[in-house]
Amino acid sequence: MFQQLKQLSPDTILGVMAKFRADPAASKVDLGVGVYRDLSGNTPVLASVRRAEQEILAAQTTKSYVAAAGREEFNSAVEELVLGTAHAARRDLRARTLQTPGGCGALRVGAELIRASSPGVTVHISDPTWGNHTPLLGSSGLRLERYPYYDAAAHRLRFDAMLEHLERAAQGDVVLIHACCHNPTGADLDPAQWRALAQLLQRRRLFPFLDMAYQGFAVDLDADAAGVRFVTELMPEALVASSFSKNLGLYRERVGALIAIGENRDRADAVMSHMLQIARSIYSMPPDHGAAIAARIFADPTLKQEWLLELAAMRTRIGDMRGLLSRHLREVIGDGTFDFIGTQHGMFSLLGVSPETVARLRDQHHIHMTPDSRMNLAGIMPHNAAYVAESIAGTLSAA
Ligand SMILES: Cc1ncc(COP(=O)(O)O)c(C=O)c1O
Repeated sequence: MFQQLKQLSPDTILGVMAKFRADPAASKVDLGVGVYRDLSGNTPVLASVRRAEQEILAAQTTKSYVAAAGREEFNSAVEELVLGTAHAARRDLRARTLQTPGGCGALRVGAELIRASSPGVTVHISDPTWGNHTPLLGSSGLRLERYPYYDAAAHRLRFDAMLEHLERAAQGDVVLIHACCHNPTGADLDPAQWRALAQLLQRRRLFPFLDMAYQGFAVDLDADAAGVRFVTELMPEALVASSFSKNLGLYRERVGALIAIGENRDRADAVMSHMLQIARSIYSMPPDHGAAIAARIFADPTLKQEWLLELAAMRTRIGDMRGLLSRHLREVIGDGTFDFIGTQHGMFSLLGVSPETVARLRDQHHIHMTPDSRMNLAGIMPHNAAYVAESIAGTLSAA
């Protein structure tokens, strides 16, 4: 059976993690891995999560199945969190939500849903984008194309080129859009750009698929959802994949949701029936534990307040480290080339250097990042920011 299977080369990020582990230097810095880190280098269990979890475990009487759609109270709270309280689709009962195993589960179910309803469409993904978008969407058989998004060497968005590309997309094609804290670039659209994009989608009849994995990591829960809300208010139909891995720190519990907005209630019901069938055919039921924790936090005002403070603390720490690193870089380089690190959003920015420079930073300075020069700013600490800046400056001047 397995004779035809050749050993695959390991995933890039796993390779980066292995090299970091094997690096014996005490000064080594991990900017590679894609999780939040606190000042002690831990990815903590949030206190609000721990409290909600204890309450749930104390009250739990069964481990029986919940439902293929997951928890109702989770799904309706997520809808409100993502779309807001005044969204037309919620008012008109045109939104349907499926609890999924993480944001990845939502992206995968979304891809299968698109293929079931429109197998010939192309999904346009940003160039660059998060490495998992290609396998998650591509393995459902959909054709993928890249739209220009960011010039890493020039450290700026390629918004005009993005619009030009999408002008040429075929009617009905899907556009995958990062909702905020773009991974890997950290470069987000401003409100005017969101408006221009939404108008183009509407005029060219393209279908928006929004991926929101970092809600609350840029400004706050509402501001970070503004683009999603603008697009989904304007368009008759849309999909939104939502992940609670980062903002609740629930990574391994696999907590996410897929929100589908239909043109009317009947259409939305039909879409939901397909989402349920797809879920059944892939994993049957989503895991419950993390979603139960999330639902409890969303519903309990004290827990929610505690979570919002913890979320703000994570966001502030990353923002502080962005500021610190960009100031150190300005000092050692003598100009504002890397000021963008201080103003971009979320966990990631691209340093904008070649894979060879990334390798030199690793081999000579023990600073580890992915070959595309993506840095996880949560790996920067007050004690290593100057070292990282000096190492970058030294490596660039030697190149
Ligand atoms: C852009 C993006 N989308 C989706 C996800 C989904 O994450 P998860 O499946 O862990 O919820 C991530 C996680 O890193 C991400 O960066």
